[in-house]
Amino acid sequence: MQTEILTVSSIVEDIDKINKAGKLLREGNVVAIPTETVYGLAANALDEKAVSEIFKAKGRPQDNPLIVHISEVYDMEKLCDSVPESAYKLANAFWPGPLTMIMKKNDTVSETVTAGLDTVGIRCPRGRFARAIIRAAGVPLAAPSANTSGKPSPTCVQHVIDDLNGKIPAIVDGGACSVGVESTVVDLTTNPPTLLRPGGITAAQLREVLGELNEDRALTQNVGEGEKVRAPGMKYRHYAPSAPVVILKGAEEKVYDYLLKQSKDKKISFLCYGEESKKRLPEGVEIEVYASSDNPEDLARGLFDALRRLDGRDIDIIYARVPENGDGLEQAIVNRLEKAAGFEKVEL
Ligand code: TXA
Ligand code: MG
Repeated sequence: MQTEILTVSSIVEDIDKINKAGKLLREGNVVAIPTETVYGLAANALDEKAVSEIFKAKGRPQDNPLIVHISEVYDMEKLCDSVPESAYKLANAFWPGPLTMIMKKNDTVSETVTAGLDTVGIRCPRGRFARAIIRAAGVPLAAPSANTSGKPSPTCVQHVIDDLNGKIPAIVDGGACSVGVESTVVDLTTNPPTLLRPGGITAAQLREVLGELNEDRALTQNVGEGEKVRAPGMKYRHYAPSAPVVILKGAEEKVYDYLLKQSKDKKISFLCYGEESKKRLPEGVEIEVYASSDNPEDLARGLFDALRRLDGRDIDIIYARVPENGDGLEQAIVNRLEKAAGFEKVEL
């Protein structure tokens, strides 16, 4: 299949391309689209056949539900059995934006979308092209991240091309994603609500609106295959380059000593901060920078691109720096790296 790239830089000037993407989606095709978080692989959420094409193109496990994207906040009412008060509060504070809310679904949403669950994840994205494409399609769009399953999520069009060229009819290129990590997922069917995936809206921001917020155990530990989890996506190895990833924690000197020792009998890469790349790292240690340590927004934007640059290289192991955890954007960065590492960590 020939994949057409529809490059957009203005809603007004590129309206024909946006309408073309909308028409392809309405007619049951799968199209990759830009959002403010990561690129999504979209299909008409009300068309089961179209939705099943998403699973095929990505190689996604059938038991991992998809997020439904809407352009108007109140469209959530059309997809849910009942909308809790907390959803209106969160929508008021953070939509359009990088927040997905899990609520009880109604019959409009098929179990192909929700992987058999009676709940649905809904997000109203802030990305202007995403919203324009949903409007042009005239239907809600089911969309996971537009990567091959297991690989780091795509934050620019080249990542989507690398994974999906020839497998889907079109990719809309709207430039680099401004957030760079996926949306925060919060389950509103529990009391208090549960954070299932940290992301662009922080736990601290959610607590300001909700008061109490629980955090799912899959955020901080491996959950085995076959175990029942609240966010099915959290049990798979994810965001992973081909070589194993191990997180290094500890003071700079200790980390560099450790790298030196390891580099004697292994080919290693070190995913580090910008400021470290200017220091004298042990010879033979290949470095890859994601951003400087004092800027979590840049770290989030740079993370998946760095992981993709590390993918497919002839190396034995990747050691990675992670920021201090907390309830800010760092939590999303730590979560993605811990998932990539399968929670492997060396404390020095
Ligand atoms: O930022 C994002 O959320 C991006 C863009 C494209 O919007 N989408 C995205 O989708 O990251 P995906 O499929 O890669 O991740 C969705 C996550 C998965 O971990 C999935 O298990 C969880 O949300 N999820 C979706 N529906 C759910 C539900 N009903 N209950 C629990 N978890 C759900
Ligand atoms: Mg994904």
